Amino acid sequence: MRRNIVAGNWKMNKTFEEADDLLFSIAEPLQKLDLDTSQVILCPPVLYAEMFTDIALENNFSVGAQNCSNKESGAYTGEISAAMLKSMDIEYCLVGHSERRKYFGEDSKMLAEKVDLLLDNEINPIFCCGEVLEDREANNHFDVVGKQIFEGIFHLNAEELDNVIIAYEPVWAIGTGKTASPAQAQEMHAFIRNLIAKKYNQEVADNMSILYGGSCNAKNAKELFALKDVDGGLIGGASLKAEDFLAIIQSF
Ligand code: PGA
Repeated sequence: MRRNIVAGNWKMNKTFEEADDLLFSIAEPLQKLDLDTSQVILCPPVLYAEMFTDIALENNFSVGAQNCSNKESGAYTGEISAAMLKSMDIEYCLVGHSERRKYFGEDSKMLAEKVDLLLDNEINPIFCCGEVLEDREANNHFDVVGKQIFEGIFHLNAEELDNVIIAYEPVWAIGTGKTASPAQAQEMHAFIRNLIAKKYNQEVADNMSILYGGSCNAKNAKELFALKDVDGGLIGGASLKAEDFLAIIQSF
């Protein structure tokens, strides 16, 4: 179902004590905000999940993981399965973040497998897509993003797709301080929504939440979130500063 969402991706940051401090500096003020029309998802290092899920409900946020295995269970040392996430009350999971694609060689087949396992376990995938700078400069960005979406989630039926959130994150904007312009963001979000309308139908497309990610911060969030096809943001760096993250949450 389409809704306004701000998701914070903490990546591989914060020790246990630091995470505890940051969590409480976000959760306490969050509890007092009127979030009728929007949803907050925190994606901390999964090791700390319980500290987050314990207080999520009364503090107006949901908990997401940053990754899961594409295998169901068994001899896969170091991996965490979708069923394990579910058993820890985790409701969302990032899939296909560009850092996973780049540093851990995750390909479309693996990502589609992860999406399927998450849905089997009633966890909502936040499916990330986005082009690198060379693709944008070569004007290939629509082809690249279209292919990622086609291979990652278009095997789902409409009912399954309704549980997926899409995050468009141009790779050249992640952690670089370079944000996509409002026109660039809107153009790509509209393109993605249109792809969904063509493959499924307009109603399915209108129901999809499509988030923008890539140097989204307290200063530019308002302008980005006001765009017709942008339903919120996936926030990296700025989600590690309570004040900034809280300002972003209030940017709808
Ligand atoms: P950033 O990261 O906000 O630091 O650019 C976004 C992301 O990687 O999800």
